[in-house]
Amino acid sequence: MNSPSNNTDLPDFSQRILTWFAVHGRHDLPWQQHLLAMPNPYPVWISEVMLQQTQVTTVIPYFTRFMQSFPTVQDLANADWEQVAEHWAGLGYYARARNLHKGAKQLAQIIADTGDFPQTVQDWQAIAGVGQSTAGAIVAMGVRATQEKGVICDGNVKRVLTRWAGIDADINKTATTKTLWALAERLTPATDSGLYAQAMMDMGATVCTKSKPNCLFCPIEQDCVAKSQGRQTDYPVKSKKSPNPSKYSLAIFLTDNDGKTLWLQRPDNGIWGGLYCLPLFFVKKNKQNQTIADFHSDFDNEYTLAEQVIFEFLSKHSHINSHDFSQYFGEKMIKHSLTHFHWFLTPITIVINDEQKKALNERLNDLALAENWTWIGQNDVQNLAISTAMQKLM
Ligand code: ADE
Repeated sequence: MNSPSNNTDLPDFSQRILTWFAVHGRHDLPWQQHLLAMPNPYPVWISEVMLQQTQVTTVIPYFTRFMQSFPTVQDLANADWEQVAEHWAGLGYYARARNLHKGAKQLAQIIADTGDFPQTVQDWQAIAGVGQSTAGAIVAMGVRATQEKGVICDGNVKRVLTRWAGIDADINKTATTKTLWALAERLTPATDSGLYAQAMMDMGATVCTKSKPNCLFCPIEQDCVAKSQGRQTDYPVKSKKSPNPSKYSLAIFLTDNDGKTLWLQRPDNGIWGGLYCLPLFFVKKNKQNQTIADFHSDFDNEYTLAEQVIFEFLSKHSHINSHDFSQYFGEKMIKHSLTHFHWFLTPITIVINDEQKKALNERLNDLALAENWTWIGQNDVQNLAISTAMQKLM
């Protein structure tokens, strides 16, 4: 290890990073506040949440549209969830959008009570969806009046620090996380922690990249342990996770005589909460290797009442062969990967007559669901907030 604790040049580390940033860093990202005398935490918070799992280039147009529609935190707090979801469609990890909406309500209340946004890392961590590193980034880059410095230690920073200090312990272990946070804390300058945070993120994204780091352009290359060992890409060390399981579903284009299709809004607390989705039937292989419906175990939370009713209805009217789904699986299958599983979705079209549609509508009405459902023409689907997987299926 580099033994940073013995390194008398620690202040020089942040100096080199800041000097590099002044010349080579990104200064025109639309959420940046560092050129303003009075930074606004609101755009910093929105952008940091969007950037948690998504790249800068993907985030920029979403961020711009979001800020146009919800220019203040109060606008976001007062918006309908539908409208927020629609601005998120395609970014993925919808829990982030739900947290932003909830967080906006929390923030609006705090501002009404105290006259301002939270000022400390600890108070920001009380906002939905804001973890330690995001709170550090917001305080560093969005709350200049504070006496507190904001420290970040996200994936980019971890990669830079494990390489520079030669930390070869598993970064998923608590002890390593602690070491990295302590080092990040010590390297972050008391003043300019916002510029330093942005600089470290830019360094990680543009120089100290995952697979082909550009060490020639790196301001800390001369004392980087990984570079001296010629083992840059061996860091950070991560334990191997078991591979994600695969799950399979049929996605039903349930169509009426006018060519309209049934779309169901997903419950708020599950996958794609609040977005519209085709009815989905989960399937599994049984012991005879037949593909059959699987509505239990893993899917208890995701298989909605509306889907159960539709499944029973289609079975009863012999629109699907509920004993063996294998005939439906073919080349139209799409793959959609989520954090915990790969989801293989196969579209099938089922046309029902007017009488059946009327009966199904009555069944759905009787359920008095909290979520909406609608029959909609192909051209109007673009006005619904739907997930990326549904867009792929379309
Ligand atoms: N990733 C997370 N926050 C970021 C930021 N402010 N700039 C660039 N990449 C980021």
